[in-house]
Amino acid sequence: MRIDIITCIPEMFTGTVDQSILKRAADKNVAHIHIHNLRDYAVNKHNQIDDYAFGGGAGMVLMIEPIEKCISGLKAQRNYDEIIYMSPDGELLSQGISNELSLNENMILLCGHYKGVDERVREHLVTREISIGDYVLTGGELAAAVVADSVIRLIPGVMNDETSALTDSFQDNLVAPPVYTRPAEYKGWTVPEVLTSGHEAKINDWRFKQAVKRTQEKRPDLLSEDIK
Ligand code: ADE
Repeated sequence: MRIDIITCIPEMFTGTVDQSILKRAADKNVAHIHIHNLRDYAVNKHNQIDDYAFGGGAGMVLMIEPIEKCISGLKAQRNYDEIIYMSPDGELLSQGISNELSLNENMILLCGHYKGVDERVREHLVTREISIGDYVLTGGELAAAVVADSVIRLIPGVMNDETSALTDSFQDNLVAPPVYTRPAEYKGWTVPEVLTSGHEAKINDWRFKQAVKRTQEKRPDLLSEDIK
């Protein structure tokens, strides 16, 4: 997979998408993230990428021209499955959407800023709009990093067995069961006995029941009618 991120603050991606599992994905040649600085596509000698909104009002709007130049340059090199605009009014990111996006070969993530992008970008260039939650960030960068992380970790080969994405919270509409590690007792606080029994079937049964219980307690909205 290849993810191209278009941003006017490329610095926001250092220390995030180049670390940990995303770094491993790149080292294994499974997924690469390329950051594009919108300023490199600025239209005039003032390096301009934003302008006042037609009709007035506070806040600057990212201009269509730099964005279009950047996107068309990328599209000339390969096909893109999706061109995604990060926006608080987009469809709400879920594990289901991340699963779907993880099947893509190439994606562009476009980060808005200030008052957003010229509406014609959304009308003519963008294929999908995604929000990471009902709150407003100062720009789409953190949201794009969230999408890249949640998608890339699902690609086969990125995670090893112990960290397999298949046992994640939400993967089957349940949150993850509790986990423990050594020591089995600390200050008198013990670990559920079944987990140290070595009995795999019983452990799996316990984990499933705990996941259901925890979902009922913390996120009852996730449970389908039949389990409720
Ligand atoms: N840009 C600003 N706020 C955002 C949000 N909540 N999700 C995605 N992109 C955003």
